[in-house]
Amino acid sequence: MLQFPLVRECPYAPPAEYTQIREDEPITTVRLPNGREAWVVTKHEHVRQVLNDPSFSADRLHPDFPNLAPAGQPIPRDDTARSMLMMDPPEHGPARKTVLGEFTVRRIAALRPRIQEIVDERIDVMLAGPRPADLVETLSLPVPSMVICELLGVPYADHAFFQANTAAMIKRETTVDDRQAAFERIRDYLEDLIVVKEADPPDDLLGRQIRKRRSEGAYERAPLVSLGFLLLVAGHETTANMISLGTLALLENPAQMHALRADPARTLGAVEEMLRYFTIVDTVVARLCTADTTVGGVPIRAGEGVLTLGQAANRDPDAFDAPDDFDIDRPARHHVAFGFGPHQCLGQNLARAELQIVFDTLLRRVPTLRLAAPVADLPFKSDAAIYGMYHMPVTW
Ligand code: HEM
Repeated sequence: MLQFPLVRECPYAPPAEYTQIREDEPITTVRLPNGREAWVVTKHEHVRQVLNDPSFSADRLHPDFPNLAPAGQPIPRDDTARSMLMMDPPEHGPARKTVLGEFTVRRIAALRPRIQEIVDERIDVMLAGPRPADLVETLSLPVPSMVICELLGVPYADHAFFQANTAAMIKRETTVDDRQAAFERIRDYLEDLIVVKEADPPDDLLGRQIRKRRSEGAYERAPLVSLGFLLLVAGHETTANMISLGTLALLENPAQMHALRADPARTLGAVEEMLRYFTIVDTVVARLCTADTTVGGVPIRAGEGVLTLGQAANRDPDAFDAPDDFDIDRPARHHVAFGFGPHQCLGQNLARAELQIVFDTLLRRVPTLRLAAPVADLPFKSDAAIYGMYHMPVTW
């Protein structure tokens, strides 16, 4: 039986075993670091089925939930640890609906001019600084971090604090105690911030949520702390990794990079292809079966864990032609890089806007951008639950 998680040997490809599992036995059992077994689901069709089926729970705090951190147990159950990401019906729908209005296509379109300013500022800083520059430090991390901070109303000046604690939380090797401590530091920080906002709620996402929930007679601090936590963490680490990896894919495919620079209308499709190609959130999209069911003819019983391997699904030849090719012009929007079903990424419109603006601006303003180290020497995040790069030396 295969031991999970598997490591990506090549930054552009899923672990080699994924292809084999998908071809030989697309739904099979694997061994987790804590010694327990879980199902892995690898076909695009089956991944969508599981993620859309109410027989599967997202309750990550349940003791039987398939957990990939070797340290075992996740953060213990408490009010502020339970975000919408871990909720099932009937709790999940209302929790998501309360904040949905902040992430509509229209709301995100209104943020675009400010995102453009942030991207331009960061590129100014990079161009004025020494060469080579670390793209992660100068662009990939600050852009989504600044955007989510402004949206939430969290001071960006504190970014070193929450970026370091987020990184500690998602590293697989972090011990239970250290993960717990990192979690509590961010939670306490947000709680203090929200207490201040309660006195006179400002016009930022957290302030607007205080007003809205009060007017509905449903204001409680703990759920808002948990929402702020989820948005802050989900909002910067993911998009940051996609900025670095997407830039890498373009630099390594110069013909497509030139085509994109010549015709920015293709960026929309290019971003979808990058999301599909790298699928940075892979094993994290897990579920716990709560009612006996069948997926692809395989019976799955209540109490059994399932990992929906998005990276295998996004390379499924039944869903994408020549799936291992990077092709910015392919139709890729049906990928599952943002998940699928009721928990599908709430921030996807924001992430898309940030990525489009970053790649358009970077290609236009830094046409001679190139890597300043061989790809083989780049520090990829093979040890983290979300794939990416720790550093990316570039020059121009
Ligand atoms: C959920 C990926 C950016 C907020 C998810 C899920 C995935 C994902 C795969 C589903 C998890 C599951 O079903 O278990 C990504 C990727 C991103 C990104 C690849 C960037 C490229 C963002 C941003 C935000 C965000 C920028 C917020 C500002 C959320 C939230 C959920 C979520 C709140 C939970 C939704 C729910 O449970 O209903 N994301 N995400 N994400 N994401 Fe994202």
